[in-house]
Amino acid sequence: MTQPTILVTGSSRGIGAAIAAALRARGARVIGHASKAHDAHTIGADLADPTAPARIWQEALDRSAHGRIDVLVNNAGLFSANPITLSDIEWLDNWEDTLRINLTAATELSRYAVRHWLEGASGGRVVHVASRAGYRGDSPDHWHYAAAKGGMIAMHKTIARQYARLGVMSYAVCPGFTDTAMAGDYLASRGGPGLLADIPLGRVATPEEIARIVEFCALDAPESMTGTVIDANGASYVR
Ligand SMILES: NC(=O)c1ccc[n+]([C@@H]2O[C@H](COP(=O)([O-])OP(=O)(O)OC[C@H]3O[C@@H](n4cnc5c(N)ncnc54)[C@H](OP(=O)(O)O)[C@@H]3O)[C@@H](O)[C@H]2O)c1
Repeated sequence: MTQPTILVTGSSRGIGAAIAAALRARGARVIGHASKAHDAHTIGADLADPTAPARIWQEALDRSAHGRIDVLVNNAGLFSANPITLSDIEWLDNWEDTLRINLTAATELSRYAVRHWLEGASGGRVVHVASRAGYRGDSPDHWHYAAAKGGMIAMHKTIARQYARLGVMSYAVCPGFTDTAMAGDYLASRGGPGLLADIPLGRVATPEEIARIVEFCALDAPESMTGTVIDANGASYVR
């Protein structure tokens, strides 16, 4: 791919901003996304809105050089507490929000991408930013987050297995704690030093470390790696 066009969701900060910077440094044309457009390279759309994925995909196609997107990076994600002591409707509302933002929106974007690559644009790649929680589970307040990431991993494997022969590759990355606002809130709420003691590396990952893995999957990973899930958690969870 010469100057591939790459759509990165959740590129305003944290891991997504590091991914966008790493890919741009490699010469990729990055179309960013966040809940609000904060610069000219970013599509603004709240993924809690069911109409957002279709709008994002269409706008990304409109912005791309030749009506072609080569790589989709599903990175946007929400990590918010949902204690089981909430009322039924509050708990269910929070469940639905997280499933929509972290799984349904990523799935819809993946579907648009796969159709795009099957209907003319010959092949492409999806890179999913999932989580260690998708395998290991999460805290009592985060059933929804773990379920969404587990679903993302299963969705990723399905794409990899069903469309590889047609030129569509799918890769997934499972970070453990990574030094962003998302992990900061969690570490503060759950007692940071105790959780750090559970990471043999002795520290959380940096966004740049996760971005290097995503960059590799997007631009360099051999096709034979399709279907892979790459862990990056300081050996806090070894499968
Ligand atoms: N940090 C960790 O410890 C960790 C660990 C494992 C997996 N991950 C995964 O890594 C990915 C990035 O996480 P991060 O730590 O970089 O998070 P972050 O710093 O909180 O950034 C989240 C990104 O997602 C976007 N986003 C969130 N909700 C959105 C919504 N409703 N509509 C549109 N955009 C939305 C945000 O956009 P706005 O700026 O507009 O809000 C932002 O760009 C997520 O999928 C997360 O689950 C993170």
